[in-house]
Amino acid sequence: MSVEQIAPLVRGAFLGRFNVPVILAPAEPTTEAAISVAALDELPAALAAAELTLPGDLRVAVGDESHAFHASTLGEPAPIPHGKDPAASAAAARARVVVGKVAVVTGGAQGFGAEIVRGLVASGAFVYIADLNADGAAKLAAELGPTTAPITVNVADEASVEAMAAQIAATTGGLDLVVSNAGIVRAGSVLEQEAADFRLTTEINYTAFFLITKHLGRLLAAQRRTAPDWTTDIIQINSKSGLVGSNKNGAYAGSKFGGIGLVQSFALELVEHGIKVNAICPGNFYDGPLWSDPDRGLFVQYLASGKVPGATTVDEVREFYESKVPLRRGTYGSDVMRAIYYLIEQDYETGQAVPVTGGQVMLSS
Ligand SMILES: NC(=O)c1ccc[n+]([C@@H]2O[C@H](COP(=O)([O-])OP(=O)(O)OC[C@H]3O[C@@H](n4cnc5c(N)ncnc54)[C@H](O)[C@@H]3O)[C@@H](O)[C@H]2O)c1
Repeated sequence: MSVEQIAPLVRGAFLGRFNVPVILAPAEPTTEAAISVAALDELPAALAAAELTLPGDLRVAVGDESHAFHASTLGEPAPIPHGKDPAASAAAARARVVVGKVAVVTGGAQGFGAEIVRGLVASGAFVYIADLNADGAAKLAAELGPTTAPITVNVADEASVEAMAAQIAATTGGLDLVVSNAGIVRAGSVLEQEAADFRLTTEINYTAFFLITKHLGRLLAAQRRTAPDWTTDIIQINSKSGLVGSNKNGAYAGSKFGGIGLVQSFALELVEHGIKVNAICPGNFYDGPLWSDPDRGLFVQYLASGKVPGATTVDEVREFYESKVPLRRGTYGSDVMRAIYYLIEQDYETGQAVPVTGGQVMLSS
């Protein structure tokens, strides 16, 4: 046993307790050991129970070996935010890139869209909650307060999208961020799926992104004529199914793959208007209604259809899906928010598709 074995456990105890990076330096052994254990295996539990101060000195004895340490920080690092709460994403270092900005989130009434609305509002943006579900958008706007406004829109209908752009221009003069999030899933075998379901999926997930970019892009381009250095963002919420195929879900995956083609093409064209166009490809949002709705969610559907062999409860179905993810959980709204902040802050990137999948899909080309 040596200091190389003891010091990382001691540093880990400070990291775990204070959630900031720590420098654990050797110190003069001026005091009696505060922690004394017989074997290295007992050290983690003793450290968990110990009183730690930062900065502070700590002397640790393991068997007949004893080491003294001084724990300190370089500067005053902020605690590193974790978790699914919008407050956690608002505490992210890059969150300030949306403070005071005007954003529109399509499909903002529920699911990922509502998470993005909450995250943007918590980070200090004004957000239009644009959704076909007028009641849902109005309810969320009422809950979140005066830095939100509901807009009723059908993103697959050009006149409706055009009217939304006019409403935004008349209300806030324009905007800084478009999050094209509204989307649907109509899963089904290619041998059996109704063409109407295929077309509907394509209209909402693919064609609507063209309509959104056309009409809101015009607004962003018009602003740029008198603000030649003001950069704006269009971000498409795509999917991991835009990067790899999805069995018996071709309409969805095809619409998402196509979305990436649009993102790349629009990015090339809109550079001259100071508009960056990027996609975020999230993994499955297991906490959202698509998966967790107690009546119609995919977990109950997959349980009923026996899609997961041997699963007898909703929790077992969920565990099966979580185990496919290297980071062992579904995607949170706050994970997507961090990618949004990155894409906005990063002036030197456009036309990209950023995976947020817990390692489930890795880029290969
Ligand atoms: N849920 C997931 O696991 C998951 C994973 C990866 C990507 N995504 C993508 O995230 C986006 C949101 O998915 P979700 O699961 O949160 O969806 P959801 O079904 O929970 O919510 C979608 C929202 O979009 C609205 N909407 C539907 N059609 C519309 C239309 N024509 N015009 C305006 N609004 C419309 C709905 O009213 C609803 O409020 C989609 O683009 C989806 O493909 C979802």
